[in-house]
Amino acid sequence: MPLQIIVGAQWGDEGKGRIVDWFAAGARYAARYNGGDNAGHTVTVGGRIFKLHLVPPGLIHPHVIGVLGNGMVVNPQTLLEEMQMLDENGIDVSPRRLRISFAAHLITPAHKALDRAIEAARGRSEIGTTGRGIGPAYTDKAARTGLRLADMLAPDFVERVGAHVAAANRLLGLYGAPPLDPMPVCEQFSGYAERLKPHIADTASELASALQAGEIVLAEGAQGTLLDLDHGTYPFVTSSSTTAAGALTGLGLGLTAAAGARVLGVVKAFQTRVGAGPFPTEVSGELAERLRGSGKNPWDEFGTTTGRPRRVGWLDGVLLRYAARLNGLTELAVTKLDILTGIETLRLCVAYRAAEGRRLDDLPFGPADLGDYQPLYEDLPGWDEPIGGIRRWADLPAAARGYLERIAGLCGVPIGLVSVGPEREQVVEKG
Ligand code: IMP
Repeated sequence: MPLQIIVGAQWGDEGKGRIVDWFAAGARYAARYNGGDNAGHTVTVGGRIFKLHLVPPGLIHPHVIGVLGNGMVVNPQTLLEEMQMLDENGIDVSPRRLRISFAAHLITPAHKALDRAIEAARGRSEIGTTGRGIGPAYTDKAARTGLRLADMLAPDFVERVGAHVAAANRLLGLYGAPPLDPMPVCEQFSGYAERLKPHIADTASELASALQAGEIVLAEGAQGTLLDLDHGTYPFVTSSSTTAAGALTGLGLGLTAAAGARVLGVVKAFQTRVGAGPFPTEVSGELAERLRGSGKNPWDEFGTTTGRPRRVGWLDGVLLRYAARLNGLTELAVTKLDILTGIETLRLCVAYRAAEGRRLDDLPFGPADLGDYQPLYEDLPGWDEPIGGIRRWADLPAAARGYLERIAGLCGVPIGLVSVGPEREQVVEKG
């Protein structure tokens, strides 16, 4: 199975970074296919914590080549800062190891300004975006007015950046936001182009050759299934294809590349969401504080990109079943199981009750109408034993195994591995 796709099965922040890190040990390529620096992937290696927004976390393994695919929107400033941080930590980010698709789109300060202005105009119905310019950059892409990495190779790149800022200023004016001075943006982007040019490549053809040669390509999804532009909780979604199918368009792979692919769904042992939108199993009060953590630990439920506290709740089995179908999941990786240790009774949402009292085991119109449903829970016993040191399935407390088996049963997808702590090796493989 040369193509392995790792996808978030919830609203993002499932802990994909560390699962990618685990699988990248056996891969040749680690490729991101969607989104931009709205993502935040945390990997802990030997006490060192890497927070990555653009570079695929798989690149931390010295034998892996990292790819930023055509489905991405790339803020060159963030990328260069991240490359510098990795370089300072002894991780090779030379063009030999890090390649960017010529067809990926650029995010500029004008996109970020527009993101802020559009959110402000939405007022109380704001989406709660990360403010990274993601929506406006994809809007430009769809409108065929975007700037691509390939533009950085053109002799008139600086003029193109100037024209882009001028166009964005006209829009900013409509929102009553101040215009940007094009000159400093043009200068900055001219400098970014010089530094990024050697990394620009035809990554789609490179990945196709690698797959043909039987090399393992790890496609790393950012955000999660429920934030997918088409299939998520629209309009409270991001602007890209976060699902497994997005790996094909976002990396430029043919359909046959997906035949027999391993599609691993990463699911947190409870549910979280950052930003606005419906969340049927959301909890508040003491339990919410318990699940979220204080914010002192890097793994606590505060956004890696924005620092915002995440909303938390019980695991939603209906949404997980939906994610399993939509992505064609072949296995699950359950993360943060250790956080549930010490909770006496665990609740799992197994169905919904519609407003008129009808029970719903599936979603009639996808997750868009979620706000109308009440969760129906099944209660399961919790466990008290610390599980951070456990490495074998059989050694997990019976109640923990019972909880995991019920999750697998609810969505019909077997569990492949479970993370029981933040460190790289704190993983239980089911085998
Ligand atoms: P945008 O992607 O910045 O446009 O934000 C759209 C929605 O997706 C907001 O609710 C964000 O909070 C959410 N979002 C974007 N990226 C992530 C992520 O990496 N993890 C979790 N939520 C995200």
